[in-house]
Amino acid sequence: MKEHTERQRALLKKEAIAIVDFGSQYVHLIANRIRRQGVYAEIMLPTVSLERLKKYKGVILSGGPNSVYQRGAPQMSKRLFALGIPVLGICYGHHLMMKLLGGKVRSAEIKEYGLAKLTVQRRGGLFENVKKTSQAWMSHGDEVSALPKGFDVFAKTEDCPFAATGDTKRNLYSIQFHAEVAHTEEGMQIIKNFVAKCDVKKSWNMERFLQEKMDEVKQQIGDRNVFMLVSGGVDSTVAHALLTKALGPKRVYGLLVDTGLMRKDECKKITAALKKIGVTNLHVEDASRQFFSALKGECDPERKRKIIGDMFLTVQAKVSHRLKLNPDEWVLGQGTIYPDTIESAGTKHADKIKTHHNRVPEILELIKKGRVVEPIAELYKDEVRTLGTKLGLPDSLIWRHPFPGPGLGVRILCAKEPHLPNMVNTLHSWLAKHLVAHKLHQAVLPLRSVGVQGDARTYRNPLVVWGAEHSFTKLEWISTALTNSFSEINRVTLLLAPQRFESVKVLPASITKERVALLQKLDDIVMQFIREEKISRKIWQFPTVLVPLRFNGSKKEAVVLRPVCSDEAMTANFYKMNRDLLKKLTAKLAPHVSAVLYDITNKPPGTIEWE
Ligand code: XMP
Repeated sequence: MKEHTERQRALLKKEAIAIVDFGSQYVHLIANRIRRQGVYAEIMLPTVSLERLKKYKGVILSGGPNSVYQRGAPQMSKRLFALGIPVLGICYGHHLMMKLLGGKVRSAEIKEYGLAKLTVQRRGGLFENVKKTSQAWMSHGDEVSALPKGFDVFAKTEDCPFAATGDTKRNLYSIQFHAEVAHTEEGMQIIKNFVAKCDVKKSWNMERFLQEKMDEVKQQIGDRNVFMLVSGGVDSTVAHALLTKALGPKRVYGLLVDTGLMRKDECKKITAALKKIGVTNLHVEDASRQFFSALKGECDPERKRKIIGDMFLTVQAKVSHRLKLNPDEWVLGQGTIYPDTIESAGTKHADKIKTHHNRVPEILELIKKGRVVEPIAELYKDEVRTLGTKLGLPDSLIWRHPFPGPGLGVRILCAKEPHLPNMVNTLHSWLAKHLVAHKLHQAVLPLRSVGVQGDARTYRNPLVVWGAEHSFTKLEWISTALTNSFSEINRVTLLLAPQRFESVKVLPASITKERVALLQKLDDIVMQFIREEKISRKIWQFPTVLVPLRFNGSKKEAVVLRPVCSDEAMTANFYKMNRDLLKKLTAKLAPHVSAVLYDITNKPPGTIEWE
């Protein structure tokens, strides 16, 4: 756990909410939601003592990937519920609270991942000022089957009769769905209602964070300097600006590594934009040849990330050697934000979804030695943007779509040979039965992409569907039902072109300069299109993904469009593009590829990037 500044510690003793982290991918979202209400929240491990928890004005038990009955599943003392402070259990926390207080939990017959319709059955508790019916976000395999004494049901979904329960006399509340994610429509109100029960003072804001962080940075760096890797994305730009403000431009050396995996003309655009606002301590190093040669022949997503992460360090070491920087006098700066650490199993109980390039073992080693500074590692994207504005950065930099550190490296899928799930024929006949009612056909794509289901990483096959033209809202329900019912697939895509599907084959391929050039061209078409059509701000992020699949005997590869709406990347909905616009965009892309697919998967079960 991080050291806290004096002011934070003082704050903590009096007015804060504790969040016990059982390994949920969303644990920091809970903190984020509470902080958005101006209340300080701190995250801690399940081993936290009751003595410590007692000091807080409220406690939240997070979700997590385990089952409460599993051996070694993280636990909590039952005495927590007798401390007289409000407690809210979410998902795993819900199961744990119900079980500890005498209720029952079992493996659910229907496992829910994604959207569900929540119906309020009883007012009061956390359900004041909450709509009677609304959408809630679910991600669970277990369910509560009997309530403890004193608990009432407050809300249900079609497949979950105990979606929200509570004992208002004791101020104990317990919910199956994730109130903390943006896609739970009434989630913020429910959390607000819980905060109100906690009777806690509002004393957290971004100005205070900035002041405290600058003090912390000065303290941590001492008389050393910072060597900062800048990608031009929002996060590293804000981190660079904060460090420069805290330490002065002479003590911060900004390095932009041209990996060759950037968007078209990206390096030129970034340096020009930064120069315009007076940032003069940024230098560009062209390392594309080294990156391409290190990635040659590699197909595994995790190994690709590791290679890219390591190569960043090699280049950084090479540059610092060339500049004759003494390692004892220099600290590595990174623009890591919270989702980058949590999704790499940064907290003890979280399952590993993807290793972010700034969390490879060498970096972890440097962190241990106190040689890394990450000034925005506790923040979410929305908070980073607010902070960027406070630091005086222009909107054009702050509102760019986020771009992953490994760049196009995680948007170019690689494969040596086809991969299909076991019993693919049986799967196909089940899927066909499911889809016939919607007049849709389907094919399982013979490669895998990364996803996240029930707080755990998946690496499974995507599905492509085509046939009758349905609204995206209908397709969203179909897609969610498919990934919930068939665990062999974690994504569903819609075939936009060609109009008829005949066959699909894998084209063995790893990352090459030619493939990068092709994706840069496709990505540029997409980016230009959304700017011209003025839909760029409506979309949170728009990965264009190159997949080594040849459709209908063509020699060309295929492209997947993956625009999403999100506000913190932990959950996302696919963007429902206007169909006429989508046809226009498809026509622009189709001549360069064998197929254009549209990803109609939310997160979960799919991640935003395909790798
Ligand atoms: P996923 O694909 O896991 O991505 O839903 C969540 C957000 O993180 C970005 N992303 C990365 N960012 N290094 C980064 O700096 C990485 O290795 C990385 N992988 C994914 C992704 O673009 C999305 O915004």
